[in-house]
Amino acid sequence: MSFDLSTRITLNNGTSIPQMGLGVWKSNNTQAKEAVMLGLKHGYEMFDTAKQYGNERGVGEGLVEGLKAVGKTREDIFLTTKIFGGDQGYQETLDAIDGQLERLQTDYVDLLLVHWPVTGKYVDTWRAVEEIYKAGKARAIGVSNFDNERMQNLLDHATIIPAVNQMEYNPLIQERDILAFNQQHGIHLQAWSPLGGGAVLNDPELKQIADKYNKTVAQIVLRWNFQSGIITIPKSVHEERIQQNADIFDFELSAQDMQKLYSMNQEKRSLWYNDFSWEGGSINEAVEEWGD
Ligand code: A2P
Repeated sequence: MSFDLSTRITLNNGTSIPQMGLGVWKSNNTQAKEAVMLGLKHGYEMFDTAKQYGNERGVGEGLVEGLKAVGKTREDIFLTTKIFGGDQGYQETLDAIDGQLERLQTDYVDLLLVHWPVTGKYVDTWRAVEEIYKAGKARAIGVSNFDNERMQNLLDHATIIPAVNQMEYNPLIQERDILAFNQQHGIHLQAWSPLGGGAVLNDPELKQIADKYNKTVAQIVLRWNFQSGIITIPKSVHEERIQQNADIFDFELSAQDMQKLYSMNQEKRSLWYNDFSWEGGSINEAVEEWGD
């Protein structure tokens, strides 16, 4: 069986998601537009953004122009965005989604995630996300950065089980407990920062494995994600890397090398995990921070 960027996994509501896509975190609108167009040019079918990133407009423009350039349509690709911390709460979430769709120049997203579990709000946010799903504005719904305690609380109140939990996941942070708990509930883990924001790329052991397969360390890590059944969204704004990260389908890691990557786990999240009272500041700050 051969795999490529169109290889999909079926989520718990029957929707299928490409297993490998392009992230645009830390990119401004101009960079995100360019990255999405390059992604489309090199065969990517899944794109992951968020209101917090301040680049939904760029992603929307990149999709419109890029799809035209490659002769594909909106239905051919899979688009994810997320509910911003500052928009959480039932009514606030319902009020936020239309602006997001407008910036993305689409009537629906394929996956809508609650960006993180804002304390005291995420259950109400989820209720609104369920409404958005029922209204057809999201084909699948899920969460991001939910540990098991918060996920259990969500499940206690939800009528729809999240399809996805997007977590920081790379060889150093393998989230074993979260992965096991999510799997029990049919929730797929999607990896954000699968390259550790670049941190794992200089690891000498990984370099040795990479040399053996005549691949780069990034390709080894992404292939490990792929063979593990993890949905992954490496970010790059450079064409050569966007292309390189997608070139992982012509080799297979041995069981022994897969094991080597599993054994690198340190479970050290880079995140602010103890404080989910943070709502993320204003979106204008985000746009200012990344530049527009
Ligand atoms: P850039 O966008 O400048 O290419 P993650 O997705 O784990 O957060 O990692 C993304 C980081 O790693 C970004 O800083 C990105 O930078 C860089 N990056 C992405 N792909 C590669 C690659 N193939 N080789 C080296 N660096 C990469």
